[in-house]
Amino acid sequence: MIKPFEKPIYVTRPFLPPLEEYARGLEEIWENKWLTNNGPILKRFTQELRNFFESDNLSIFNNGTLALQIALQGMGISGEVITTPFTFVATTHALFWNKIRPVFVDIEPDYYTIDPDKVEAAITPWTTAILAVHVYGYPCKVNALADVARRHNLKLIYDAAHAFGVNIGARSIAHFGDLSMFSFHATKLFHTLEGGLLIFEEAGLKETFDYLKNFGFKNELEVVMPGTNAKMNEMQALMGLQIFKYLEEMIQKRANISEMYRHFLEDLPGIHLIPVLSPDISWNHGYMTIEVDEKEFGMSRDKLYEELKKYNIFTRRYFYPLICDYACYRNIAVKDPLTVARHAASRILTLPIYDGLELSTVETICKIIHNLQQNVVLRVVGKS
Ligand SMILES: Cc1ncc(COP(=O)(O)O)c(C=O)c1O
Repeated sequence: MIKPFEKPIYVTRPFLPPLEEYARGLEEIWENKWLTNNGPILKRFTQELRNFFESDNLSIFNNGTLALQIALQGMGISGEVITTPFTFVATTHALFWNKIRPVFVDIEPDYYTIDPDKVEAAITPWTTAILAVHVYGYPCKVNALADVARRHNLKLIYDAAHAFGVNIGARSIAHFGDLSMFSFHATKLFHTLEGGLLIFEEAGLKETFDYLKNFGFKNELEVVMPGTNAKMNEMQALMGLQIFKYLEEMIQKRANISEMYRHFLEDLPGIHLIPVLSPDISWNHGYMTIEVDEKEFGMSRDKLYEELKKYNIFTRRYFYPLICDYACYRNIAVKDPLTVARHAASRILTLPIYDGLELSTVETICKIIHNLQQNVVLRVVGKS
């Protein structure tokens, strides 16, 4: 009999740099008395990101949602945008705030990303863009999507909120499509407490994005567009700058955790893991997803989620429900039956993964999942 964990094990915990390090950075901020509005620390952080992405075409924000909203506005996206319902609500909200109609299409079953064939089938004369999501950091079918976008003259925008640090071949995932948005929210692998980043191909967009995030100010006297306030402050930038140094180490630790989950769960009947990613993808191990097949496992995903809570393990049913099933989007007509997305949303569970999660804890979580299934098997055998 395995005892519940004494302290709750959450699905994620933010990485924090050593307190003394952050405190030293705060001293600099206190000395500068410069808290926001493109301060010296934000400038240093910006340079780090330029080097990391090997691009000057970037703009930093106070969160990913506003970054995406501003991206759509600055690029002049309108009409209809084809997108996925299997994501976090902010993807769709960013469309809604720009008065753009989301057209939901299905995902592909292996990595839950938007299905390029379904995208092509949903194009109408009003379609202006594709908004795809590298959900859990699993890369979309970037070549097929680029092909559809090119043939139909559509913008290709990626919500890469989960994909910081992911590469395809030798290139960062940021360099596929017209633009990518990364979230630096505290729940993400790499964070700035709250924060967001746009990386884009067209250099001319930078000025527009920079105006839009700063009330549209061009200089002290000129306001050239009705912008909003989406600037990153110095304390956020400081966090980013300091965590940046640990990026590789954080990814490696998570890779070890992923590997351990795979080792213990891959042969368990009714638990399905994603197929191993192609060798040209270097993934960030941001999330640990499993699918629970109720018939094979003997217990539904929701029941497993509840049972794990009894052991003080708090998993999440990301992404369930589908966005189109939320009250605020239910009135949008969806032509696609979304068969794969519905199936995935009913089975998906994300397990704890974060820097500082001990491998022995991962092993115990896996043993608990095994035991829960064993108990089901024993109960069934006992009854027959
Ligand atoms: C897929 C996705 N898109 C957008 C966002 C919004 O980012 P932020 O929280 O930085 O506003 C998030 C998450 O937090 C997300 O998971």
